Amino acid sequence: MKQGYWEKEYRNVENLWGYAPSNQLSKYIDLIPKSGKILDIGIGEGRNAIFLAMKGYEVEGIDISNTAIKRCMELSKEYNLRIDAKVDDIRTFDVKPGAYSCIILSNVLNFFTDNDIKDIMTKLRNGLQQNGLIYINVFDEEEPSLTKVKERCHRLADLTFYDEKNNMYLHYFTKEELGSLVAGYETISLVKSNFLDITHGNPHYHSTLEILSRKKEG
Ligand SMILES: C[S@@+](CC[C@H](N)C(=O)[O-])C[C@H]1O[C@@H](n2cnc3c(N)ncnc32)[C@H](O)[C@@H]1O
Repeated sequence: MKQGYWEKEYRNVENLWGYAPSNQLSKYIDLIPKSGKILDIGIGEGRNAIFLAMKGYEVEGIDISNTAIKRCMELSKEYNLRIDAKVDDIRTFDVKPGAYSCIILSNVLNFFTDNDIKDIMTKLRNGLQQNGLIYINVFDEEEPSLTKVKERCHRLADLTFYDEKNNMYLHYFTKEELGSLVAGYETISLVKSNFLDITHGNPHYHSTLEILSRKKEG
C-alpha cells in the first residue's frame, strides 16, 4: 500500500478518527502491565495513544502517513504528553523483541495481504513480553462496505481484495481467523459490534471484531 491513500484521507479533513479511545482497550486498561512500553501500530492521530499516555503509560507508535504523525505529535504537545511517534511501515519496521507490555492494532490489519498479516503477527508476538496484551480491532466478513468492494476490486482470496483505484489491499476477518492469529494467547475479551459510525464522512454502518488477548507464560 502506498502512503498516498492515507495521506489523502487525512488531508481531506481536520480530524479523521475522532478523539475517543477504542472501547475494549479503555475498558481493560488496568490489565496492561507497567513493565514495558506500549506500541501503537498505525497510530493515526493518536486517539488511543493520547488516552494511554494520559494514564501514565510510555507510548511509542508508527504510521505510514506524515500527516497522521504530525497531528498525533501536535495533540500530545497540547496535552503536555510525551509520545514517541514516527513515520514508518509496519511491514519493514523492526519490532524490538520482548520490549512491549501492550501492542495495539486498531483498524489497521484490514489493509494488508494474507501473507503480510501473518508476518506482522509473528513479528508482534516476538515483540510482546510474557503476560503482555495485544489489542486488535478489525472489520469482519459482515462489514457493509464489503458488498461494494466485491463489485469493484480484484479478488485475491476468499476475503482478500486488491483495490486498484487506491492501490491498496483489503482483507476482512472471520472470528475463527482472528482467533487463529492469537492462538496460544489467553482471550480476555472478544466483541462483535454493528454500529453507526458518525466520526467521519456521512454516517455509515460498520461490522467489527475487537479482541484483547494476553500472551501466556512459557
Ligand atoms: C483506519 S486508520 C486507523 C488509525 C488509528 N489506529 C485509529 O484507530 O484511530 C489506519 C491507519 O493505519 C495506517 N497504516 C496503513 N498502512 C500502514 C503501514 N503499512 N504501516 C504503518 N501504518 C499504516 C494509516 O496511515 C492509518 O493511519
